[in-house]
Amino acid sequence: MTTYVPVPGHHRSPLSDDPTGPSGNRRLFAAAGPTLVQHGARFGPFPTLSPPSRLIGLLDDAGLSGRGGAGFPTGRKMSAISGRRSVVIANGAEGEPASGKDAVLLRTAPHLVLDGLALAAAAVGARETHLYAPAPALDAVRRALDERRAAGWDRHKVHLTEAPDRFISGEESAVINRIEGRPALPSDRLVRVTDSGLHGRPTLVQNVETLAHVALIARYGPRWFRSTGTPTEPGTMLVTLSGTAAPGVLEVPIGIPLARLLDDYAAVDPAAVRAVLLGGFHGAWVPGAQVPEAALSREALQPLGATPGAGVVLVLGTHECGLQKSADISRYLAEQSARQCGPCLNGLPAIANVLTQLAYRRPAPNSAREVQRLTNMVEGRGACKHPDGTARFVRSAMNTFAHDVGLHLRGRCEATIPAPPPTPRTR
Ligand SMILES: Cc1cc2nc3c(=O)[nH]c(=O)nc-3n(C[C@H](O)[C@H](O)[C@H](O)COP(=O)(O)O)c2cc1C
Ligand code: SF4
Repeated sequence: MTTYVPVPGHHRSPLSDDPTGPSGNRRLFAAAGPTLVQHGARFGPFPTLSPPSRLIGLLDDAGLSGRGGAGFPTGRKMSAISGRRSVVIANGAEGEPASGKDAVLLRTAPHLVLDGLALAAAAVGARETHLYAPAPALDAVRRALDERRAAGWDRHKVHLTEAPDRFISGEESAVINRIEGRPALPSDRLVRVTDSGLHGRPTLVQNVETLAHVALIARYGPRWFRSTGTPTEPGTMLVTLSGTAAPGVLEVPIGIPLARLLDDYAAVDPAAVRAVLLGGFHGAWVPGAQVPEAALSREALQPLGATPGAGVVLVLGTHECGLQKSADISRYLAEQSARQCGPCLNGLPAIANVLTQLAYRRPAPNSAREVQRLTNMVEGRGACKHPDGTARFVRSAMNTFAHDVGLHLRGRCEATIPAPPPTPRTR
């Protein structure tokens, strides 16, 4: 059975023509190290925009979209913030176990994130800023804040809040609940957080990687940002690669062919790939046969029913069983729900049970239909998108591994079957 742990946080960028310069693919990791001196030596002083709200136009021109998973246009989100008491939150929760990019970024380039946070706050007129991340990442941020204070780099205070290590703790209403002192659980929100978020104030929640790109766009401009990536999805993105001999975090141009990424970064033989999970545990499998047509952009992945999400690329070898891996992930997702709403309380454990039966034990003949029925039942019925994301993942697993379903129903599997896992909890 698979144990899900974040991949070790090393990062490489072998595709870069200019690995140390802002013109290459290595942008976020271009500084020699995490200190303020190294940051200043590489990126220059804190960028001052006049007026600060000019940033929003630059982000629109750059075409920056959020790197937290949903890919919403950043400039558009910022322009929705109005009111003098607004708040900006940098979201580094990264509850997704297959992702390590935000932790690596906060450890390696904390000053880019903090510059982006200060710039975003100035642009929307916010006096209050927060950074929300797991404890180890907060240590790096604390050190960076001390350096900034000592150097008088920028004056604004950043409130730090520890993110619990749970899949859903980075969902934006869970982030707000946690910062307000409640458990980090999503809540049913009838109004957008940009209208009424933290303590009822207009709130901008941005992923930490998004903010780091903001800091670079403020310095080098939209044309520079668009010099890599695709015309509709410009820039670079961080990818967490796992399931290979050398897992790690990479910075790649958006639109990079998946086969090239696997070959250049991980020396993966395409013939040894059963499938690749893109976008994380709420993402979708791309079958090995379709890897040559896949590229890491929303546009390129749309026909394959996948998205790059927050940059998770998890490789499943031909020696592994896709149904077992999917059953493990569905059980994890069931256990990670907040157990507040019906679909999470009853539906997700039921789906995980049937998938586990199908993957590890002698399945009932109607197992596949039962998974489909339960998946249809949970969709669109939670207070947050957790059931929808789980349904999307499970549906993709059943499509991608349809051949394996047939084999398992006949008591066979192309991979070695390990001991059955414990049965998920139900109520
Ligand atoms: C279940 C769930 C978990 C999420 N976890 C994270 C997370 O760990 N980090 C993050 O930045 N966004 C996460 N998001 C997305 C946030 O709700 C929000 O859209 C994001 O922080 C906005 O930042 P961006 O526009 O810069 O991408 C999650 C969403 C869902 C539904
Ligand atoms: S849908 Fe699930 S994860 Fe989302 S709020 Fe309801 S119980 Fe929690």
